[in-house]
Amino acid sequence: MNHLIAPSLLSANFTNLEADIEMVNKSEADWFHLDVMDGLFVPNISFGMPVIRSIKKLSEKPLDVHLMIVQPERFIKDFRDAGADILTIHYEASTHLHRSIAEIKNNGMKAGVVLNPHTPVNVLVDIISDLDLVLLMSVNPGFGGQKFIENTYNKISKLRNLIERSDSSTLIEVDGGVTLENAPKLVKVGANILVAGNTVFGSVNPSETIKNLKKV
Ligand code: DX5
Ligand code: ZN
Repeated sequence: MNHLIAPSLLSANFTNLEADIEMVNKSEADWFHLDVMDGLFVPNISFGMPVIRSIKKLSEKPLDVHLMIVQPERFIKDFRDAGADILTIHYEASTHLHRSIAEIKNNGMKAGVVLNPHTPVNVLVDIISDLDLVLLMSVNPGFGGQKFIENTYNKISKLRNLIERSDSSTLIEVDGGVTLENAPKLVKVGANILVAGNTVFGSVNPSETIKNLKKV
């Protein structure tokens, strides 16, 4: 499959979110990536359901909601009701991951697990075939605009291997520090979805940047 691009609205202009949503709607982007932070799991607080509900009204593409919150199972239905199409929860924040993944799917969403940079991919060996996607953090979660961690290439290759061995069709998403420079290698080693915040919204022509990320 061709890789997908998911611009992260964390780096968008919050005084005029509508303009940035329209830009993404008209661009070659595939998903909206929405980062929910609770100030506990990560040292930052972003936005929650009311903002997602508002984005849903304007968006013409699936909402990929990345939960950086403790005990994400508390809010699965709320994020579905707010408009999430894809819901990803952190391995490090979920004690009963198997149950939570099933609940996300039972609520009609695609389900994914996120791994922090220090978490090895083999912790997913017994759940990989239940997952629609795995999101590999290529920075420590909490902030946009950080530097890409090079070990991510290794993790993508190992995860690709695990997916092939389990004969599943799980997608690999990469989040953090994605640029026009590292995107070609990320896709080459096996990434299916690239999240990009600062690279898109910090550029002079965001929709052209999305187009260029899509072309790599
Ligand atoms: C970080 C978030 C990312 C962030 C990526 O915790 O999960 O989605 O917005 O931003 P960039 O692409 O600027 O690293
Ligand atoms: Zn994210």
